[in-house]
Amino acid sequence: MTTPGGTEEAGPPAALDLPPDAPPSGITATGVARRFGPVRALRGVDVMAPAGAITALVGPNGSGKTTLMMVLASLLRPDAGSVRIAGVDPVQDPAAVRRHTGWMPDTLGVWEALTAREILEMMGRLYGLDRDIARSRAGQLLEWQELSTLADEPARVLSRGQQQRLSLARAVVHEPQVLLLDEPASGLDPGSRIRLRDDLRQMAAAGKAILVSSHVLSELDEMADLAVFMHDGRSVGVEDLAGDGAAGGRYLLTALDVRALLPVLERYAVAYRQQPGRRQDSVSVEVASADEAADLLSILVAAGVRVVAFTPEASRLETAYLELDRMRSAAPVAPDAGRTGGAGRASRRVGRRGNR
Ligand SMILES: Nc1ncnc2c1ncn2[C@@H]1O[C@H](COP(=O)(O)OP(=O)(O)O)[C@@H](O)[C@H]1O
Ligand SMILES: [Mg+2]
Repeated sequence: MTTPGGTEEAGPPAALDLPPDAPPSGITATGVARRFGPVRALRGVDVMAPAGAITALVGPNGSGKTTLMMVLASLLRPDAGSVRIAGVDPVQDPAAVRRHTGWMPDTLGVWEALTAREILEMMGRLYGLDRDIARSRAGQLLEWQELSTLADEPARVLSRGQQQRLSLARAVVHEPQVLLLDEPASGLDPGSRIRLRDDLRQMAAAGKAILVSSHVLSELDEMADLAVFMHDGRSVGVEDLAGDGAAGGRYLLTALDVRALLPVLERYAVAYRQQPGRRQDSVSVEVASADEAADLLSILVAAGVRVVAFTPEASRLETAYLELDRMRSAAPVAPDAGRTGGAGRASRRVGRRGNR
């Protein structure tokens, strides 16, 4: 796959002449289960991660994200369920799945003793590139991730952010159609996180299917198009983050002069909370819907209040997560309910975006 109009800055360089017959589809998994002895790490997971989008896999520690990714990457065999990666079943044809899949584990692991260049060259060789092509591919990827000056240092001396960049480069050596990234943003400083986000967005725009896990919502918020929520080995909800814009909830409202703002809120009986401490230019208001938020903003502007910011307090991802949590506690599911029952009433969003 070539990045359309791609330059070295715009996306991973394309060096391989792969036949254009790679199936365009992304990831689908249904009813995936996997135990480790008595531990039921996955009890029924449904995931769809389409090509051209970044899908977040969100859930607390121990909820099964890594296990799921390893099943998808053909590194673990599922006990039950069905998986297709770019149309291929990892149980039937793991070699084909590995050709289509780039896997970024949460650490570099034993590779840390090698240099960055050696890691990329060796990976290219493992994917069947001949020596010269593997070498030039490694050079391009090092340049893409701005690691050229560190190319001949052992990978263990690289910072966390640099190691993650190397790990991403390693995952795309063979220009996979599907990327599985396990906690790639963990431990990154804000600059590195933005860089990672931009790189992943580029690759999604070039048509890759990207599944990226995290237990920290804020890491994925600006990155993800879709989110799949995991809890206790099950997928419990799906949210389309690129979809229908803002919703109701608490909004933070900032005005140039808060003394002009408060009387208008009071006149329209809008309940507000003033921010404690020094942020006296902002108040927090609750609205029932996006419509109501838009109405309130027009009223304030028409009344001459000089509003400088009006924004949901929680991110889309946080709002979806909190809502799901609220619904789950309102409608608890039986611990051993079957797969579809396990997703249960709490996950009204399951199915909204083809996750079944
Ligand atoms: N190799 C293993 N042997 C035994 N239990 C495991 C193994 N791998 C994962 N588990 C268990 O499976 C559950 C899910 O783990 P994991 O997939 O790593 O979750 P996450 O990545 O969401 O933190 C946890 O209870 C974990 O302890
Ligand atoms: Mg994990």
